[in-house]
Amino acid sequence: MREDTIVTALALPPEALDLLSPLGRVVGPERWEEGLRDASALVALLTTGVDGALLARAPRLRVVANAVVGVDNVDLDACRQRGVIVTNTPDVLTDATADLTLGLIISTLRRMPQAEASLRAGGFHGWRFWDYLGDDLSGKTLGIFGMGRIGRAVAHRARPFGMRILYTSRTPLDDGDEAALGASQVEWGELLASCDVLTLHAPLTPETHHLLDGAALRRMKPGSFLINTARGALVDEEALVEALREGRLAGAGLDVFEREPALAPGLLDLPNVTLVPHIGSATHETRMRMALLAARNVRAVLRGEPPLTPVER
Ligand code: DGY
Repeated sequence: MREDTIVTALALPPEALDLLSPLGRVVGPERWEEGLRDASALVALLTTGVDGALLARAPRLRVVANAVVGVDNVDLDACRQRGVIVTNTPDVLTDATADLTLGLIISTLRRMPQAEASLRAGGFHGWRFWDYLGDDLSGKTLGIFGMGRIGRAVAHRARPFGMRILYTSRTPLDDGDEAALGASQVEWGELLASCDVLTLHAPLTPETHHLLDGAALRRMKPGSFLINTARGALVDEEALVEALREGRLAGAGLDVFEREPALAPGLLDLPNVTLVPHIGSATHETRMRMALLAARNVRAVLRGEPPLTPVER
């Protein structure tokens, strides 16, 4: 039996290595690029640009197992043309990402970063009736762009907080799901204009790039909040800074940025933002599930079996 070479940009945990080692040689993150020439499989990260140039360096490649759910780092057409299977990690990170989204909504509406910064700077002089006021979630309208797995999980969590749910999505929910989530589908323009909190849950594609550009940001309800745990480039970050600085938006909770790890000039200086460094799926349990799913996808393809979670587009 021919030994496969599996190159991995991710430092795989022992549990995942145990799945892959019987199939052949596993080349880890320090040397994965050198191993590409012989590689049958690549475990990639969202920071791994899988494009035509990379594929040309990997003539034997059969599978790219993206160890994340987004595949904007992968040239899917180039992979298809080369007959390379692409897989990702849906489902296993839905709860963690939806939890963080709710966390950002709460943190941003309740102005937790400002309150904490004030406390750390010695600005807390005891309880005062009118200090540190934020906004209730209850009674607010949450707008969800993209009602896929994560969008639905966010709706499910937001409802018990008393939020009314509107959404815009390529694939509408069926009536049963709409009723269960208490969600109503509206046009994008209406979502922008009528939501107190807008949260984005769409993949980054040429169609969604700068979905929220300067013009769209101007159509958002004055005083509303933006939450983004999807991909930074869904938003024109410079235009967002301007909208926040001018007070057209009340605040933003951002886990993702347009040019990670760089942040748009001025973003860090704004008081009305919660900023976290792309940690939507960053829990011990979730990252382990993602790593194992990527390894299982590699194993399936190298054994000639159907991948568990192929990307079909
Ligand atoms: C993904 O899976 O696409 C996330 O952004 C990683 O947390």
